[in-house]
Amino acid sequence: MARLSSVCMVMVFFLLWAIAIQGAEYLKYKDPKQPLHARINDLISRMTLEEKIGQMTQIERNVTTPEIIKKYHIGSILIGGGSAPAPHASAETWMDMADEFQKGALSDRLGIPIIIGVDAIHGHNNVFNATIFPHNVGLGATRDPQLVKKIGAATALEVRATGIPYTFAPCIAVCRDPRWGRCFESYSEDHKIVQAMTELIPGLQGDIPANYPMNFPYVNNERIKVAGCAKHFVGDGGTINGIR
Ligand SMILES: *[C@@H]1O[C@H](CO)[C@@H](O)[C@H](O)[C@H]1NC(C)=O
Ligand SMILES: *[C@@H]1O[C@H](CO)[C@@H](O)[C@H](O)[C@H]1NC(C)=O
Repeated sequence: MARLSSVCMVMVFFLLWAIAIQGAEYLKYKDPKQPLHARINDLISRMTLEEKIGQMTQIERNVTTPEIIKKYHIGSILIGGGSAPAPHASAETWMDMADEFQKGALSDRLGIPIIIGVDAIHGHNNVFNATIFPHNVGLGATRDPQLVKKIGAATALEVRATGIPYTFAPCIAVCRDPRWGRCFESYSEDHKIVQAMTELIPGLQGDIPANYPMNFPYVNNERIKVAGCAKHFVGDGGTINGIR
């Protein structure tokens, strides 16, 4: 009798297991073997209008919680200049914050990972004890793009160490009038020097291989490199009498 019931239990177990497997729906967008465009099309076809709006929305760290990310399907987070989880937060506290935000995103219906970006403009400048480099006005004065590239690599390492994959840098403003209040963020009044200093980008992201399709974003090492972002708007710094 005891033997029969244990056989029954094993059978019931396999029955439940088979139902569970069948119930786990195959999701094409989560299948890394599918081509990228097929995964994107599949994901977008599943999204509601509300989810699409949420994914296109970026909110500041200071109003972000895992619950808010999930509730509004938020796509990305800005950690703006001076923004930090606590006044003297350690790298570990930063990392924990990034993990909590990511968990919030992954717990949402479609489980779309969130993009977290930080204003790491001259080093990982929001982080206590991080390496702070001179601001862009000083770096432009060096006329040394290879040095700026090394600074990009050092910054990427420290940004990654806090769990963040993306920085809103470099600032490629061309400051045409020093009366403008944000001239310190500009490498030069000469656009050729600003252009040369975009060597920061391969420093942040890693060098793009020669045969790489240029219309794809590129980060060559997820442990030590981060995505860059040349900013701000076109014509940034082209003020009239220092006024935007
Ligand atoms: C959050 O950060 C933004 C951007 O720096 C700032 O304008 C806003 O006042 C901050 N809000 C709060 C609630 O601290
Ligand atoms: C900052 O650096 C100092 C000196 O190395 C160290 O004693 C301290 O623990 C660091 N604090 C944080 C929050 O990383």
